[in-house]
Parts: sequence; C-alpha cells; structure tokens
Amino acid sequence: MKKPAPIESLGEAQARREHARLGEEIGAHDRRYYTEDAPTVSDADYDALRRRYEAIEAAFPELATPESLTRKVGTAPSEKFAKVRHRVPMLSLGNIFAGDEVADFAARVRRFLGFGPDAPLAITAEPKIDGLSCSLRYVKGELVEAATRGDGFEGEDVTANVRTIGEIPKALAGAAPEILEVRGEVYMTHMDFAALNARQAEAGKTLFANPRNAAAGSLRQLDPAITAGRPLHFFAYAWGEASALPASTQIGMIAAFKDFGLPVNPLTVLCHSADGLIAHYRRIEQMRARLGYDIDGVVYKVDSLALQDRLGFVSRAPRWAVAHKFPAEKATTVLRAIEINVGRTGALTPLAKLDPVTVGGVVVSNATLHNEDEIARKDIRIGDTVTVQRAGDVIPQILGPRILDKHEKDKHEKLAKYVFPKICPICGSAAVREIDPKTGEAEAVRRCTGGLVCTAQAVERLKHFASRNAFDIEGLGDERIEQFFRDGLIRTAPDIFTLPERERRGIINLKEREGFGELSVRNLFNAIEARRTLPVNRFIYALGIRHVGETNARRLARHFESFEALRKTAQAAQKGSEARAEINNIEGFGEVVAEAIADFFAEKHNEEVLDALTAHVTPLPMEAVASKSPVAGKTIVFTGSLERMTRDEAKAMAERLGAKVAASVSKKTDLVVAGPGAGSKLAKAAELGIEAMSEEDWLRLTGQET
Ligand code: IVH
Repeated sequence: MKKPAPIESLGEAQARREHARLGEEIGAHDRRYYTEDAPTVSDADYDALRRRYEAIEAAFPELATPESLTRKVGTAPSEKFAKVRHRVPMLSLGNIFAGDEVADFAARVRRFLGFGPDAPLAITAEPKIDGLSCSLRYVKGELVEAATRGDGFEGEDVTANVRTIGEIPKALAGAAPEILEVRGEVYMTHMDFAALNARQAEAGKTLFANPRNAAAGSLRQLDPAITAGRPLHFFAYAWGEASALPASTQIGMIAAFKDFGLPVNPLTVLCHSADGLIAHYRRIEQMRARLGYDIDGVVYKVDSLALQDRLGFVSRAPRWAVAHKFPAEKATTVLRAIEINVGRTGALTPLAKLDPVTVGGVVVSNATLHNEDEIARKDIRIGDTVTVQRAGDVIPQILGPRILDKHEKDKHEKLAKYVFPKICPICGSAAVREIDPKTGEAEAVRRCTGGLVCTAQAVERLKHFASRNAFDIEGLGDERIEQFFRDGLIRTAPDIFTLPERERRGIINLKEREGFGELSVRNLFNAIEARRTLPVNRFIYALGIRHVGETNARRLARHFESFEALRKTAQAAQKGSEARAEINNIEGFGEVVAEAIADFFAEKHNEEVLDALTAHVTPLPMEAVASKSPVAGKTIVFTGSLERMTRDEAKAMAERLGAKVAASVSKKTDLVVAGPGAGSKLAKAAELGIEAMSEEDWLRLTGQET
C-alpha cells in the first residue's frame, strides 16, 4: 500500500478530494458490514481508513458537514425489515489502540470536567463483544420491541427473532422501571459457529465468515423460525430510553440488569486509574482465546451517570467512553510452500502454504504474500519460521520471517532465497513484469504471457464471462465452470452456447453427471437460451479485455453503438492509425486502454472466438434493448423484500430492460415495486401519486413470469 501523504502537506483541494474518496470507500465498507453482513476488509484496515478520514476533517474543519461520516453510525437499515426509530440514538465508540492513549482518555475526561489529577475518577472496564448491537424495549417489564442499530437513528424491527433467544427474558424479574430500553450485543459462541457452519456445509449453503456475521445473519432473518434454530446469546451493557434508572453508576446499572434476569458480562470491573484499566485490559487479552466468543477490545466507561451526562457526546461517540482495541493477532508457524495462482489477466499471485496454526481462535493454513517485491523485501524463504497476522476477517498475511537470535538467523540463511517464477506454473509461458509507460517502472505484478494457451487464464476468463454483471448465466457458477473445463465440455465461451445442441445430439450427457438431473440441466439450458441476446455493453464487458471493466464497456457501447462497429475500428487500430486515435479519444480513455483494446482484437484466436460467439449471441445496441421494453427509460425504486429474486438481480433485470434504478422515491420516480415489509418509500410513492406494483406484477409486466 502507498504511504499516504502527511496531512500537513495536503492542500485544501487535495484534502477535499481525499476526504470525498475516503468517505465513499468507508460508506461502501459500512454497507457491506452492516447491511450485507459480508465485510471485505479487516477491522484494522477499516479503522485506519476511518482515522485518516477523521484526521483530514480535524485539519480541515470545513469538511465536517452534516453529511460527514463522522456524524453517522453504521448504515441505513435494510429494506427487508420494518423500521424502528430509536428514541435515544444508538451511537458508536471512539477507538484507541496504544497503551498511552488510555491515560490520554482519562486526562481528557478530567480536563473536560475540570477535575485535578488527584480527584477520584472511577471508570469501568469490560470486554468489547464482537457481535451486533441490539436494543430491547421493555414496557411494564414486558419485552415489546427489539431493534438492530441500523444507522443509529433507525434500526430494523427484529422483535419476533429476538423472542426466540432463550437467554433474553420476555419479562424482567423484580421491579423494573415502567419503560426501559436495554442495549447490548447479540453474539454467537465459537462452538456454535463451528457447528452452524458444518450444518451449512452439509446443506450445500454458503459458510459464514466469522461468528459476528453468523450472528447477524441469524438475527436478521425474515423467518423467526430460522433464528430460533440458531443459538444466539446476549450481553446487556447499555440502555436507551428509561422512565427511571435503577442505579446512578454504570456498574450499578449492570448489577441491576443482572437482577432483572438479563445476561451481563462477568469481566466487568471498576477501576480507579489508567494503570488499573490497562491491567484489566491485559487480563482480558490473556483470556481472550479461552473465552469461547469473539471480543475485539475493552471498553472503558466513566462510572458516574451524572458525570456521563455532563460529558455528553461528540458527533457519533460519547466523551465518557472509549474502546481500547486489540492489535491484530499474530502467531508463528513454518512456511512450507509458496503456491502461485494465475488469474484471468495472467497475474501471478503468491499464496503461502503454512503449517496450520491458530491465530486468535482461527486455524490458518494459507496466507497472502502480496507480490514478488514483497517477498524479496521481507526476504521470505520456504522453510522459514514466519509471523502470520490475522486482522478481522480478511485473508491472513505474512509479516516476515521470525529472526529472534543468531540460531534463527543461521537457519534462515541456510535456506535458499526464494526465486519468483519467471514462467507461468500452469502453461509454461514466460511471465513478465510490464513497464508502466507513465512511470517507466516495472509493474508490481508479474503476468503470464501465455494468454490463450494458458488454461488457468482460460478458466478465469470463462468465470468472468458467465458472471453476474456479464452474461449472468444462472447455474454456471465458478465451480461448475471449473468442472466443465476440466472435463473438456467447455473450453471457450462459444462452447457454452453449443451445450444444449450437443446434449440433444447425444454428444455429451449432462443429465447423467453427478450433481445433475433433468431439472438442473433444463434450468441451465433455459438460462443459456435467455442469453442469446444481451445488451452490447454487457457483451463487451464479458470479453474480459484488459482495462475494460463495466464503465469502459459502457463507454465503448455508447460510442460505437454496435459491436460490429467497435470490432471494425479496433481491428484497424494499429499504433498511429486514425482508428487508434478514435478509441484513444473516447471520454475517460487513454493510450493504455486503447492499446489493450487494439491488442485484444489483433489476436487471431480472439477473432476466431468472436466469430463463433457472434454466431450464437446477438449483442443488441443498448437502445434497442431499452426501446423494446415497457420500462425503458423509466426510473424504478424497489422496496420491501423481494421473494423471487435478490435485489441485485432485480436491479440487473431492470437495467437490462433499459430502466434506471434509484434508491429513494422522488418526483422523478416512475414506478415503485414493493414487496412485503415496504414502508416509508411506498407511503411516499402514494403521496406523490407514483404507480406502485407487486413483485408478481413486475415480473408479469417485464415478461419474466413463467
Ligand atoms: S457501549 C454509547 N459496551 O461496540 C456507546 N459497546 O464500536 C454504547 N460493543 O455500537 C456502546 N461491546 O455494538 C459498549 N461492552 C460494550 C460493547 C459495545 C461491544 C459494540 C456496540 C457499539 C460498538 C461501538
């Protein structure tokens, strides 16, 4: 990763740009984490992005607009559930990482309150549970409503699901206040997580990445019966609206929760100094691997509720509390081998094969080594004892060989230096590092030059071709493509379209294959038939031309309108030609993209594949697709839960039919498709007199109903 420029060196425009870019990136991570339960970065990387964002904002206060992420927590609740407005917002916590930041926290609190260094200040310390927060509303002691955090202001109604969690009392014991919102964390234990994943695997379902995702996925189920079958637990640690408080301190509140019959964490203690807090942090850190559930730090809270009130909040977090996060977890093990994987564009990526080792409760046997230069820079050799770091849920990484003493140094030096392969391990073609024309330096990635003869690339290209945003052939997922390729059923994309004909003629026999049957073959063939026409932009994207992702594919489609027009120009696009200049001049393009396109069409084999492909598939101009459909040019909003397709599918379908999909209802909306649980968006549509229809009607309208 490139080291970011020091904040002091940023000009205002630069800061604004980076702040906006980081905001988008963080927003996307938030969506994946909170709404989709499927994060793609580690907590540590996320925290780093967030810290940089906050630091830029601190240096350029004009960027701290009401829209800033520093004013928000989490992300908007999912559309699947009814919404619950939190009467008291569910906020987040600031993070600290280093030990000396604990004293800073205590000093900050003292300064704010005007306390001298010797005035007594009690602070609680308790584990930070890595689950998902939940607010339980008790009225007259009865559980009446449960909600997830959502964006902190509005969460999802998960009452029915929470009622299935045995550990959460449906009625509080003793004399509870008239109204009490108990807040805490829903989590899953390591053992239950492993058992659930084993069941998922047996049923051929997707595995959960970690206990947190499993807990979130289990709680956020439309069918409470599913939640009931998933063992969830709860720790109470905070509260929202309350008609009266049963105690005047944090520790007293936790004791009261316990008396009400709520589960509370036994590792909550009261401390009287920063040293006391750190000592408890260390104790919890020691116990971490044996707790049986995931925690990611220790939370410190000023004990007196009167002082908490005085301290109040700064944007999204209380001044009276802070989360002291654990550093990424590390372990040492032996590097047994370095496996080289080859991707669609021929990139060679090194993967470390390790003696299995437990890192923070998870057994790790693979880790990323990034690229050739990283291996050389760290001087990682096969046979080394290496330090592995696992941060959050992402693939673990190798920090480097562990060399603590002379003995280890000698051992390391006796090993052969690792030589990154200069030929492709799959096809034997030369693997080279291209020179970046802009910098004149070699790219970090080494690529196989085998192109079409390289089977690894061929398989990856086929996966890309059939993938969701390309041909989107249902029933032809990654694994099936690998099998079909291995068995010689599909070698290039046109082969996909001859499968039905070959089956009919008895040349192949898919029906008899393991894991197949009449129905799955019929479904696959229907999916293939449905793709004999598709918008030209998707067609271009599916080809997997380097540097031509979805956006550039759309640009090409817009510019050339037909695939044949693109092909003709690209074939004539030798360096210096007019055709080359035409491609180069397309908005957003440049020489690198133009060259990649010219190279692709100059390749004889690609031409053959394209001839075969266009014999089976007709790329329709973007407009032709649009004008045929009844929803062409319309702006559509999907709301509520869809039962026959995922939201991504619905969106892709609408776009295929030339419609635009928007997230919120406005005067510009033409149509709202509403499923069960639709709420405010449907109401707004009615208010604005916008047409609304059910999912069934939508399928009928668009001719998808079977
Ligand atoms: S206190 C006003 N205590 O961490 C702050 N939060 O990063 C109330 N969490 O949203 C939160 N364990 O989901 C608190 N012992 C604990 C916690 C805890 C986990 C979560 C909670 C919160 C997030 C903030």
